[in-house]
Amino acid sequence: MAEIQKLEALEILDSRGNPTLAVTVTLSNGLKATSKIPSGASTGQREAVELRDGEKTRYGGKGVLKACAYVEGEIQSAVRGMDPQEQKALDQRLCSLDGTPNKSRLGANAILGVSLAVAQAAALDRRIPLYAHLATDSNYLLPTPMLNVLNGGRHADNSVDFQEFMIAPVGAPSFRDGLRAAVETFHSLKSVLQLKTYSTAVGDEGGFAPELESNEEAIELILESIQKAGYKPGKDIAVMLDPAASEFFEDGVYVFRKSDQSRKTSAEMIELWREWLEEYPEIWSLEDGIGEEDRSGWKQLTRELGDKIQLVGDDNFVTNPELFRQGIQDGIANAILIKLNQIGTVSETLECIAVAREHGYGAVISHRSGETDDTSIADLAVATGVGQIKTGSASRGERVAKYNRLLAIERELGAKARYAGSNIYAKWKGAQKS
Ligand code: PGA
Ligand code: ZN
Repeated sequence: MAEIQKLEALEILDSRGNPTLAVTVTLSNGLKATSKIPSGASTGQREAVELRDGEKTRYGGKGVLKACAYVEGEIQSAVRGMDPQEQKALDQRLCSLDGTPNKSRLGANAILGVSLAVAQAAALDRRIPLYAHLATDSNYLLPTPMLNVLNGGRHADNSVDFQEFMIAPVGAPSFRDGLRAAVETFHSLKSVLQLKTYSTAVGDEGGFAPELESNEEAIELILESIQKAGYKPGKDIAVMLDPAASEFFEDGVYVFRKSDQSRKTSAEMIELWREWLEEYPEIWSLEDGIGEEDRSGWKQLTRELGDKIQLVGDDNFVTNPELFRQGIQDGIANAILIKLNQIGTVSETLECIAVAREHGYGAVISHRSGETDDTSIADLAVATGVGQIKTGSASRGERVAKYNRLLAIERELGAKARYAGSNIYAKWKGAQKS
């Protein structure tokens, strides 16, 4: 049996040019695997803590040398000799070694680096792909991709308040065909923007980031581009939103600082979503339509729209099984966003997905706005069969790397490859029509 023999951590750069960790584990049989850790910008308040050096003269305080030192020091000593196949035991040891509820001592970036690298090494040791290693059965499902083709909010310096406008090829027969439809729409959107002499420069997640007249215009442009690409909005391709409302919730009101400076109460914000869904039935999913601090607003939103559309909780659940269970009890959302680095271990991430399944909640596997070329989340999506992934637009290498990995997995699975398509959304689509 192979054991964990060595851990190495290197301070590398993420897609925004900020330092992050690459963690390499070496097993006693010589096998090696490396994880690279992402980093968010619109982070939830209760996310596990990303350890940064805070030394202003290096990378503006964002260095991760302390986290790297913990990996090679304390963590290595604590996990050396452990069985890489025992992910849960490893993750438990990492959590207890850290000793804080939010991984603030050793850093969730250091801890996830080790947790994920060991998962990858364990797969190598079994001579199977990561998706097969993480799966509990072989009912693999290729996820419907949600491509963030228009970026606003904290991910772009433009006039759009809402962070993410995504397209999802729900009507395609396979992942490959779906990805093509979405990518063709992305290119069509570029032409639509060019015709209007809008900028086609891209934001952090590879979507366009034009200066628009209003948030609504973003939807209109996307619908036009879907049609121009030869697809039917709401049938072939659905629209999905992540306004990341916590980012513009200030002292109890929603402030549209980037567009028209208008302000909305919680009730008015919910009313805006109700109106948008009526006007744009092509919208099938809404993530963080309400801010994490506005808990009563979230409950109200779920009561009013929870049977009509997928409502994804990101900032309020932060991939934390405990917070998620509490949210479910409180009647908040009907789906969860899954980001490994929000919680910091592979096991706790899998636990969240299991809780979602147990309670009939949807789950969307997600990248962060600061990414690397690590493609583990593609494998995680296929392994767990949640049926949804958001990992950026059809540009920027760190985004397409995940889609390319999914193409490779689909090919490898051959006839066994099933595609999620529109199935996940069927319960809400019915409600929209009635
Ligand atoms: P982040 O944004 O990675 O910047 O936190 C992603 C999201 O809000 O879903
Ligand atoms: Zn989000």
